[in-house]
Amino acid sequence: MDSFTLIIFGITGNLAQIKLIPALYDMEEKDLLPSDMTIVGIARKEMSDEELKHYVHTVLHLENIHHKHEIKEEVFKRLCKKFTYLSGQIQDQNLYEKLSNILKHGNRIFYLATYPELYHQIFENLQKNNLNKQNKGWIRLMIEKPIGCNLPSAKKLNKLLLKYFTEDQIFRLDHYLGKETLQNILTFRFANDIFEPLINKDYIDHIQIAAAEDFGIGKRGGYYDQVGALKDVGQNHQLQMLAFAAMDAPSEFSNEAVTKERIKILKNLIPMPDKVVYGQYEGYRKEENVSLQSNTDTFYALKTYINNERFKDVPIYIRAGKKLKQTVTEISIVFKNHVNRLFKSADSGDEPNVLIYRIQPNEGIVLKILTKVPGYDAKLQPEYMQYCYRPNPYTHKIPDPYERLLIDTIRGDQTFFNDAEEVEAQWAFIDPLIAVRGKPAIYEPGSWGPKEADELIEKDGRIWLEPSMDFCRI
Ligand SMILES: NC(=O)c1ccc[n+]([C@@H]2O[C@H](COP(=O)([O-])OP(=O)(O)OC[C@H]3O[C@@H](n4cnc5c(N)ncnc54)[C@H](OP(=O)(O)O)[C@@H]3O)[C@@H](O)[C@H]2O)c1
Repeated sequence: MDSFTLIIFGITGNLAQIKLIPALYDMEEKDLLPSDMTIVGIARKEMSDEELKHYVHTVLHLENIHHKHEIKEEVFKRLCKKFTYLSGQIQDQNLYEKLSNILKHGNRIFYLATYPELYHQIFENLQKNNLNKQNKGWIRLMIEKPIGCNLPSAKKLNKLLLKYFTEDQIFRLDHYLGKETLQNILTFRFANDIFEPLINKDYIDHIQIAAAEDFGIGKRGGYYDQVGALKDVGQNHQLQMLAFAAMDAPSEFSNEAVTKERIKILKNLIPMPDKVVYGQYEGYRKEENVSLQSNTDTFYALKTYINNERFKDVPIYIRAGKKLKQTVTEISIVFKNHVNRLFKSADSGDEPNVLIYRIQPNEGIVLKILTKVPGYDAKLQPEYMQYCYRPNPYTHKIPDPYERLLIDTIRGDQTFFNDAEEVEAQWAFIDPLIAVRGKPAIYEPGSWGPKEADELIEKDGRIWLEPSMDFCRI
């Protein structure tokens, strides 16, 4: 692997603490980082090298990070040797001069773990100091969601990015694309021949996508109250889940071909402003940094269709929210229950088959089928045929998405990143739904959201599926 410098703008922030530093530790432990690479952390706070070490140590031992395994002292020391810290204002020219002086490698990744309002100044200052020029190696930029807050602002940001970088240098992150459980949908669909012929309007009754959390907004009120559930997870993670589940087979497994197929789905989604329900959990307005009059959505449910031949008239129901009954993210492909099915009149005999891509928890791909209850009668019961992710004792279970996406960036592989057209297609679908966002319906914490969400699907003679915890309990 080529050596390189990773420059993180915002090393003291929340994202760096809960995602980047733990991912870098894991990569160091697995020997995935070149020994002579450098990590330059930037923020305003003054910190000596010793204080930086102490900071990294504290971060790796934080309670709230998903980094539950032991921190080994020798790995920590190796990682610390790679770290350098630069304090300064992003707006300040001097910072970039200091940065130029310490940059050893021509290959560089700039990671923007700071506010979007600062991007322009970062780019301008990098340019003034020739730091974005690819004359002695490759230069890549990693940039987090949100890319804009609607279609016009996303277009503006994409235009700005393209003023300083080329599209093949820009790695727009949606960490869901780095999830093993999402990427495996492509393998399941396109490496096996048996299911793909069934993934169409002739066999599928409808599709459901759920992203539920049983907790509230915690300390993120200041951010969340400006954004709401649909923009926070609907515009990005959930649309990507749908794209993976519904896209046509790419002509090859390359960035261009995979991204092209995802974009086709996103561009063909039909926004239905009269089929969206917004909810807010009771007590949300009393959360820290939330307005007492807030109408921000902490829940939404919507219906849509994909405007293509394959999924013509197949409804897609998407819901997500906070303080719901359960924490679960999954895609359910609900198959048609053909009229002439034998045993239809037996107990449970009319239950549909459901293909479930469980993103988390109880990660797996399972097929709900009907089986005979052992005994003398023709009684049926639903069971699950399952593929589950078994923890690998030699690695830390499933690789963290940030680790995966950092590796892809080092390799220059953009397959699991969004390009400008893709992000804009997502906003083009979401904007008409946001335009009708009024007062949300209040729902009880611990429920499945407001009753209006149930009515949305029940009007069509269907119900929301209760996510099962009966499979992949490892
Ligand atoms: N947190 C997450 O889980 C998450 C998830 C997805 C996307 N994101 C996105 O990632 C970005 C960062 O989010 P965050 O939650 O990490 O924010 P944050 O906790 O507020 O951190 C912001 C970072 O930027 C630095 N900073 C701010 N102003 C600066 C300036 N003028 N000069 C130099 N450094 C400056 C801060 O350091 P000092 O204050 O010490 O200078 C801090 O390190 C945002 O765009 C967010 O939307 C975050």
